Amino acid sequence: MNPAVLSNLSYGMYVIGTKKDGRPNACVATSVVQISSGNPEKVLIALTKDTTSCAAICENKIFTISVLSTDTPASVIGALGLVSGKNTDKLKNIRHKVLLEGVPVVKENTCCWFLCHVLQSMDVGQEMVFAAEILAGSDTAMGTPMTYEYYRQKMHGLSPVGSPTYIPPEKTFDKSSGESFVCSVCGYVYSDPNFSFEELRENWTCPVCKMPKKAFVRRT
Ligand SMILES: Cc1cc2nc3c(=O)[nH]c(=O)nc-3n(C[C@H](O)[C@H](O)[C@H](O)COP(=O)(O)O)c2cc1C
Repeated sequence: MNPAVLSNLSYGMYVIGTKKDGRPNACVATSVVQISSGNPEKVLIALTKDTTSCAAICENKIFTISVLSTDTPASVIGALGLVSGKNTDKLKNIRHKVLLEGVPVVKENTCCWFLCHVLQSMDVGQEMVFAAEILAGSDTAMGTPMTYEYYRQKMHGLSPVGSPTYIPPEKTFDKSSGESFVCSVCGYVYSDPNFSFEELRENWTCPVCKMPKKAFVRRT
């Protein structure tokens, strides 16, 4: 089977909020699905084992889901989805609220949130799948939920190597030097055939995460 065909599945864009060693953390995930509308409502999420978020859920059995909207800034996705919270406070520059349970929900133009308690965990190799019941959540939802397709097509976003929706970026080359330039924060590859990377003005910023030109690294 061609793994690229899997990109035809539909996904939403979510932030999973956790607490680790008493401190809130969060990461981006597409692997979230509602599995029951009964009482209580239930969801499944899947996280790769090497994430701080996965370890936090295994430890505390509690997490939040913030549903990203099409207005959620790309910088939020870059900061939470492409950087590990192991040694960094990723939420430092992101508007959020920490619930009484110690887990955060994102407030940067998100649609709604849910607080979830893990019922069962399943080890499926490189990932853990968590089945959880929803304990509480928003009374109303705002905005339009962001889909993974919207993130890819409209925001030109990427997912990191190892995440379920990772698709290798096309290698693009700067026309003057034959090298490619990649944003070190979000992985965006500069690919305008009309301008070399050096020709871009100094205050140019990454179209995905808004990082300055100096955040780009040369990739040979
Ligand atoms: C668009 C997108 C989708 C992602 N989907 C998932 C996912 O479904 N499961 C997962 O484990 N990681 C996923 N990730 C990767 C995690 O967000 C990323 O590894 C993050 O740095 C983990 O942070 P942590 O170590 O602080 O938990 C995704 C990232 C992006 C940008």
